[in-house]
Amino acid sequence: MRIDVLTLFPEVFERFLSTSIIGRAVARGIVTVRLTNFRDFATGVHRSVDDRPFGGGPGMVLMCPPLIDALESVEATAEGGPTRVLLTPQGERLTQAVVRDLSSVPWLILICGHYEGFDERIRAIVAQRPGAREISIGDFVLSGGEPAAMVLIDAVVRLLPGALGDEQSAESESFSEGLLEYPQYTRPRAFRGLEVPEVLISGDHARIAAWRREQAVRRTQDRRPDLLESDN
Ligand code: ADE
Repeated sequence: MRIDVLTLFPEVFERFLSTSIIGRAVARGIVTVRLTNFRDFATGVHRSVDDRPFGGGPGMVLMCPPLIDALESVEATAEGGPTRVLLTPQGERLTQAVVRDLSSVPWLILICGHYEGFDERIRAIVAQRPGAREISIGDFVLSGGEPAAMVLIDAVVRLLPGALGDEQSAESESFSEGLLEYPQYTRPRAFRGLEVPEVLISGDHARIAAWRREQAVRRTQDRRPDLLESDN
């Protein structure tokens, strides 16, 4: 998979892209991530990327020309249709179903905003292209799209074949079947008086599977009953 990120702060991605599972996926060539600073496309002495809102009001608004020029320059670097994603609190909510969907495309372009928001025409121009989406990582406002892009990259890349050491682990965890994950234990068998459930050391794989399923359902009922009614 190829991922392009349009951002004013490419440096914040560097450690993230070289660490742990994502770092390994990059090193193995499972994903290629390119960072483009759209300030490089700004003109004028100040290389401004934002300006005051028409009509007044607080804050600054990202202007169209540098961002759209940057987007078009990235689009021109390869054949094929990328999936363009604008990261914004106004987008559809990121869920494991959306993540799964995005992990199946060959090329993602992630657009990170900053300041008070995007000029609405950025939204309109991106939306005209096929495969465009606006995505929010939750009902809160970040000061920029960068943490949201990292969340999305992390969730997507770990689903790519070969990204996790153990192919099964992405499949059996929280949300992949619409349930939270069952409780996990490792050594030691007793810690501060807390014992590992006996079933897990029984060696009886059918009983273990049944116990895990029951725990996952119970935990989902207790903590996130909404998941039992949705198709996440
Ligand atoms: N940019 C600012 N807040 C955001 C959010 N909640 N999700 C995605 N992008 C954002």
